[in-house]
Amino acid sequence: MALFIENDGKLFRLVTSRTEYQMSVDRHGVLRHLWYGQKVGVPMDYLQEGQDVGFSGSPYDAGNDRAYSLDTAAQECPANGTGDYRISAIKANGGIDLRFLKYSVVKETVTIPGLPAAFGDAETLEITLIDDSAKIAVTLRYGVFEDLDLITRSAEIANCGDAEITLEKAASLSLDLPAGDWEWIHFPGRHTMERQPNRASLFEGIQESESLRGTSSHQQNPAFILCEKNCTETKGLCIGGTLLYSGIFQTAIEKNQLEQVRITMGIHPDLFRWTLRAGEHFYTPQAAMSLSMDGFEKLSHNFHRFIREHVTRGKFSDAPRPVLLNSWEAAYFDFDEEKLLSIAKEAATLGVELFVLDDGWFGRRNDDSSSLGDWFVNRDKLPHGLDGLAKSLNALGLKMGLWFEPECISEESELYRKHPDWVIAPKKRKPVRGRYQLVLDLSRKEVENYLFDTMAAILSSANIAYVKWDMNRSLCDFNDGEQPHRYILGLYSLLERLTATFPDVLFEGCSGGGGRFDAGMLYYTPQIWCSDDTDAVERTKIQFGTSFFYPASSMGSHVSAVPNHQTGRVTPLETRGVVATAGCLGYELDPRTLSEDEKNIVRAQIKRYKSLEPLIHGGKYYRLTDPTKKNVAAWMFTDGKHVLAQGVQFHTMPNTLRQTLRLRGLEAKAHYRVEETGQILTGSALMCGGLLLHRAWGDFNAFEILLTKEP
Ligand code: GLA
Repeated sequence: MALFIENDGKLFRLVTSRTEYQMSVDRHGVLRHLWYGQKVGVPMDYLQEGQDVGFSGSPYDAGNDRAYSLDTAAQECPANGTGDYRISAIKANGGIDLRFLKYSVVKETVTIPGLPAAFGDAETLEITLIDDSAKIAVTLRYGVFEDLDLITRSAEIANCGDAEITLEKAASLSLDLPAGDWEWIHFPGRHTMERQPNRASLFEGIQESESLRGTSSHQQNPAFILCEKNCTETKGLCIGGTLLYSGIFQTAIEKNQLEQVRITMGIHPDLFRWTLRAGEHFYTPQAAMSLSMDGFEKLSHNFHRFIREHVTRGKFSDAPRPVLLNSWEAAYFDFDEEKLLSIAKEAATLGVELFVLDDGWFGRRNDDSSSLGDWFVNRDKLPHGLDGLAKSLNALGLKMGLWFEPECISEESELYRKHPDWVIAPKKRKPVRGRYQLVLDLSRKEVENYLFDTMAAILSSANIAYVKWDMNRSLCDFNDGEQPHRYILGLYSLLERLTATFPDVLFEGCSGGGGRFDAGMLYYTPQIWCSDDTDAVERTKIQFGTSFFYPASSMGSHVSAVPNHQTGRVTPLETRGVVATAGCLGYELDPRTLSEDEKNIVRAQIKRYKSLEPLIHGGKYYRLTDPTKKNVAAWMFTDGKHVLAQGVQFHTMPNTLRQTLRLRGLEAKAHYRVEETGQILTGSALMCGGLLLHRAWGDFNAFEILLTKEP
């Protein structure tokens, strides 16, 4: 049992394997936050005793009790207009003063209309607060995933009066933390360099990471870590949070005058104004938070399992993913059926299982300036259509995958000529173009239906086993404060309908690489193309940052040609293989250009990956170095029996000692055999002394060491 309700239904303790989250209803009916930390088993309300603080007012019903102030009290759902001058979780015109109404316990996880929600074995606590004069009720829902030390939270906001209410902010998560030396890690980046962790001490004031781009974005990620100053991979307290949402978001953290810390995370309030008419409800996206007393490694393990077991769905969630070859860097827009088939023929001899036809197969698309929206096959390039191509690929023993960018439209397209009004555009100006293209207004049902019908027809017209769902620009030009969220609701509805109608198709998410890499998309697409940067060296950093929240099984990762198309860097094929193996392996090159030796290397890579995939996707992942700071990138996977240590030594220097690599997560007393050499070492030797790596010779050489626990 994870939920304890005590003190006549006034004290709520959410207890997981190692953590505890406490709330209580105070004497004025305010839902107070008491504790988030290690398991304590006793009420922590004594810590919340008030104190008269200058210029911190009291609610009217507190009478002359100047020590009772919402400006300093830790709360579960702080709102505007209550004398709390810190950031609010919920804001409405006129203010909201929320007091406890009731609670209930649901013995399972709950769904959220139109939005992703974690499923599986967990209890849910629902607490309803109400503002009797403003006629707003807020139901907070906490899902408790006991084994994972993880709690989900979302809110339902209802208008229970007759007058219209405008919501100005509706955060998913709000957490009040005691004063302390907190540090904040967030994940800024850019196109082709996503999710580079940035750690900083909190300053007094508000700091935030956000996206106003309509997508979760390359530039920031809806995920945060707050940690103690000395927190490392293996030691110290840290709290992580992520959002099951793919649109605009804001993570705001305030350290106030008394060094108390509040964090809110949810839909970005700057582009959010939601009208709630009488009787209407608004549902926030779900957030997930976890706490570790043992550093970031444990936090990541909690989130990896959460995403694999409670977020990704469908038959591919836990199944081996096909090794694919994607045509993009192999051919870009320059292909016809003959060329594709000759690439595919070669790919099949290497062990590739799925051939993905990327951009350029439809309309008159010979470059990126036209045809988005015209989802009909270009017969000049593919005279036998998609069905003909699929049959030929199938005859080679390959499955076929297809690229779409459903959400966008080119002005140079038949669809635009027919429905120019379907795009997101400001009423009085021309819209902003991105990569020459505009965005379809998915908040409109007819647009969603058109895309569903068109894509369903294509997916039914040929034996298509995989879809790459791309989105290649940031959104802009919203006309009102509902459109950004309604767009995401339309997107999710479309994804839900397509994935339900085609359960045997593997969907991979993408947005110019990793521009929409979030737990919301992972609910529909169990893997996402991690970055348009396929350079193995840069990829170690991108995959490192991505790994804090997202598991290896979610990261599309490909071996590409050299010199690399994004950086011009030349790295050994073995290195590219090792880096791509640490995710969902694919190839993004023309195999016809490989030498016989290289082809043999690729064959061996694929064969080895197939045998290691259960360990890579199902095992625990450990970050052994920080490649953004060190000359070596190293990580490992273990399932308890097998250990796979992988990495890249970046720059070689003369006359240096061989590096050692300390492993983690092993049994100290067990013996492990190194596959390559037959050497047997104890877990404690491997964790304290480490593995001795080969002497670095030449730049960017990789290592991959497999160990097996002796019976
Ligand atoms: C995006 C994707 C690439 C490729 C191109 C095609 O940039 O991330 O992988 O599909 O679009 O235009």
